[in-house]
Amino acid sequence: MCSCGESRRGWGPYAPSPVLFLSLFVSAAPFGLLGEETRQVSLEVPGWPDHPQNLLHIRAVGPNSTLHYVWSSLGPPAVVLVATNTPHSVLSINWTRLLSPEPDGGLAVLPKDSIQFSSALVFTRLLEFDSAASGAAAEPPGKPYPPYSLAEFWWNNITDSLQPATLSATFWGHPARDPAGTFANGSLAFRVQAFDRAGRAAQPPRLLHTADTCQLELVLAGASPRGNRSLFGIEVATLGQGPGCPVIQERHSIDDEYAPAVFQLDQLLWGSPPSGFVQWRPVVFSQEQADRDSALSCQASPLHPTLAHSLPPTLAHSLPQSPVVQAFFGPQQNYCTFSLTFGASTGPGYWDQHYLSWSVLLGLGPPPVDALSPLILGIMAVALGAPGLLLLGVGVALLLHRTHPSEYRSIT
Ligand SMILES: *[C@@H]1O[C@H](CO)[C@@H](O)[C@H](O)[C@H]1NC(C)=O
Ligand SMILES: *[C@@H]1O[C@H](CO)[C@@H](O)[C@H](O)[C@H]1NC(C)=O
Ligand SMILES: *[C@@H]1O[C@H](CO)[C@@H](O)[C@H](O)[C@H]1NC(C)=O
Ligand SMILES: *[C@@H]1O[C@H](CO)[C@@H](O)[C@H](O)[C@H]1NC(C)=O
Ligand SMILES: *[C@@H]1O[C@H](CO)[C@@H](O)[C@H](O)[C@H]1NC(C)=O
Repeated sequence: MCSCGESRRGWGPYAPSPVLFLSLFVSAAPFGLLGEETRQVSLEVPGWPDHPQNLLHIRAVGPNSTLHYVWSSLGPPAVVLVATNTPHSVLSINWTRLLSPEPDGGLAVLPKDSIQFSSALVFTRLLEFDSAASGAAAEPPGKPYPPYSLAEFWWNNITDSLQPATLSATFWGHPARDPAGTFANGSLAFRVQAFDRAGRAAQPPRLLHTADTCQLELVLAGASPRGNRSLFGIEVATLGQGPGCPVIQERHSIDDEYAPAVFQLDQLLWGSPPSGFVQWRPVVFSQEQADRDSALSCQASPLHPTLAHSLPPTLAHSLPQSPVVQAFFGPQQNYCTFSLTFGASTGPGYWDQHYLSWSVLLGLGPPPVDALSPLILGIMAVALGAPGLLLLGVGVALLLHRTHPSEYRSIT
C-alpha cells in the first residue's frame, strides 16, 4: 500500500518552493494532441424493451474527434472509454448479444479503424474493514469484513436520474439480498457528470476538468457499518495494456484555495499521453458539506494483475465480470486491480455521519494540469517579492557599510 494520504495533512502555512513552481509551469505546457476546448456532449440512455435501463452513453463530439463513455450497471458498475479520430463515430449495440451469457461483440464503436484508444474501469467490490482490529491482529486498514460484490447489487433505472442540463446522471444501488439489513436505509451512488468545456467543480476537491473528461462522484450514504470503527474502500479493476499493469503516479500539487491542504494529485495513466487517465486528489469527505473538517485521507494500493475467470476457489476471489466490458473487448484475462481505502482508524470517519464521498476524473487525451490560482500567484508574489526586497536592502546596506564613511563623505 502506498500511503497517499500521509503527506497531505499539514494545515500550517505553506511556503511554496520555486522548484515546485517551475515544474508546475513546465508541465503545464500544452500537449496539443487530441484535446479539444469544447465539445458537443450528449447523454443518451439506449434501452431494450422489458429491461432495466442501465446503460448511459456519453458522446462528446469535437471538430476532429469523438469520445465515447459507456457507463453501465449491467453487472458491476463499469465504464468503457473510447477515443476516435472522427466526429462521426457511433456506438452500436446488439442487445440480444449484450444481454446473453456470452456478450462478446455486443458493443462496438464504429468505424472500428477510427479508434485511437480504449480502456475500461470496473468497480467490483465495496470493501469494509474493522480498523479497531488493526495493529497486532491485522495490518491497516484492519480486519476485512466480507466485501459487498457490486455485481450483486440492485441498481436504479438510470433514466429517472438523468439531468440533461448538468450533463449528469446517477446510478444508485443497494445489495439485492441484504439479510443483515445493513443497507436498509443506505445506498451506494455513482454520480456521473460530463462537461462540454473546461472548468472546475463547485464542491471540494474541485477537480479541474476539460471537455475531454467526465467526473465520477462515489457516495456511500446511510449504510450501517458492521463495526464501530469501520473503514470503507472500493476495489477497481481495469484492463492491463500488454503484460504489465498501469501504475499510479503521485504528482505534487499545491495547497491552494481549490483543494485546501491536499498536496497531491494521484493519477493512473494507461499509456504515455495522449491515451487515457484517471485522476483524483487523495481525499474523501465524511459530510455532504465537503470542507476541511470533513476531509479524510484516501490510500490507494498499487495495481496488480488479477485473473478474471476460472480461478480455483482456493486462490484469490475471481473478479466479477462486466458484460459491457466483455461485450466491447471480448473475453479478457488481462485485468489489473487496485483498491482505495477511505479514512483512517483515528480522527473523523464514516461513523460520524454515515456518509462518504470520493471524486475522480476520467479522461481521454492529456490529463488536465492545475495552473496556479490567483491566490497562489498573490502568495508567490509576496513570498518571492519580500525576500527580493530584503536582499536588495541588505546589498545596499553592505555597500554603504563597506564604503569608508570619510571616503563616502569626500565623494559627496
Ligand atoms: C425507466 O424510467 C423511464 C422514465 O421514468 C420510463 O419511461 C421507463 O419505462 C423506465 N424503465 C423501466 C424498465 O422501468
Ligand atoms: C481538424 O482537421 C483539419 C483537417 O485535417 C485541420 O485542418 C484542422 O486544423 C483540425 N482542427 C483541429 C481543431 O484540430
Ligand atoms: C446480434 O447478435 C445475434 C446473436 O449473436 C445475431 O444473431 C444477430 O444477427 C446480431 N444482430 C445484428 C444486427 O448484428
Ligand atoms: C432505517 O430508518 C428507519 C426510519 O428512519 C429507522 O426506524 C430504522 O431503524 C433504520 N434502520 C436501520 C437499519 O438503520
Ligand atoms: C461497539 O461499541 C459498543 C459500546 O462502546 C460495544 O459495546 C460494542 O461491543 C462495540 N462493537 C464492536 C463490534 O466492536
